[in-house]
Amino acid sequence: MAPDSAAVEAIRVKYLGRKGLVSEIYSNLPNVPAEEKPLVGKNANILKNKVTQWLQEKGQTIEEQKRQQSSAEKRLDVTMPGAGATIGHRHILTQTVDDICRIFEGMGFVTFEGPEVETEFNNFSALNIPIDHPSRDAFDTFYVDVKDPDKKDRFLLLRSHTSPAQIRVMKKYTPPLAVIVPGKVYRPDAVDASHSFMFHQVEGLLVDEKVKFSDLKGLLTIFCQRLFGEEIKMRFRPHFFPFTEPSAEVDISCYICKGKGCSVCGRKGWLEILGSGMVHPKVFEAVGYPLKKYTGFAFGMGVERIAMLKYGINDIRLFFENDTRFSNQF
Ligand code: PHE
Repeated sequence: MAPDSAAVEAIRVKYLGRKGLVSEIYSNLPNVPAEEKPLVGKNANILKNKVTQWLQEKGQTIEEQKRQQSSAEKRLDVTMPGAGATIGHRHILTQTVDDICRIFEGMGFVTFEGPEVETEFNNFSALNIPIDHPSRDAFDTFYVDVKDPDKKDRFLLLRSHTSPAQIRVMKKYTPPLAVIVPGKVYRPDAVDASHSFMFHQVEGLLVDEKVKFSDLKGLLTIFCQRLFGEEIKMRFRPHFFPFTEPSAEVDISCYICKGKGCSVCGRKGWLEILGSGMVHPKVFEAVGYPLKKYTGFAFGMGVERIAMLKYGINDIRLFFENDTRFSNQF
């Protein structure tokens, strides 16, 4: 068995230490009879050399053993189970936007994206929103400190809805067209459980010859059934938007209480999920479409609201706090 370093050290002290055997022999040498002195001296040297050599060898063995042991400890054990990497996943809002877009893409719509910084023309004027409309007020729209390059007396703004993308699409393409536009929109609202200064919308626009309101109704009915399930009930409620005529808001039977009435739907049993209508002739005029030839419909929905209803989320701020205890639930 290999001696450990303490045992080796004890042997060194015993033989070669200051009060060890070898030095004892040397210090006793004067007492040794003269004729034996050479022999005793010689043997003492031999003993000293042997012990020194032995100590050296053992020292090396111990070093070697230590080296082997530490490299064995460091060696990779390929039979150990892996630590497992945590794989990220898409945020629940991204998933909801994708779910919405996939449903419309399945019905022939093409996804289009518009910029978040827009002109007053695209966000308001072209959408038949009059110059004195309250939504143009700085209290309802974020204006950017940059002049519109095309209209030097006007400032750019952060789009307050995705509807300006309708204008961009129609200026670029001629009908028939069917597009879906997901994106961020901004409004200077005070943040609370149901308001955020930034949120997401998905806009839809379809223009062709002979498009009817019943086409819009049919399309949105199929959409809601695919997103919320076959058993969902819907109602189209007359409404007003400057850029659609006639206009309707769409309600679905409350997803939480199934229409019975609860705190989420304010005991009404219905929840508003989108705005829609037939494209206003003034909008076609703004983009230069021949009025007699085409009709179309448009709709816009709030993604956070839809995700909150679908997954029972009660505070819009949860989407933006990036707390993984929230996001890992979806
Ligand atoms: N832009 C409207 C809003 O933000 C929604 C809408 C879109 C209504 C298209 C009708 C047609 O409330």
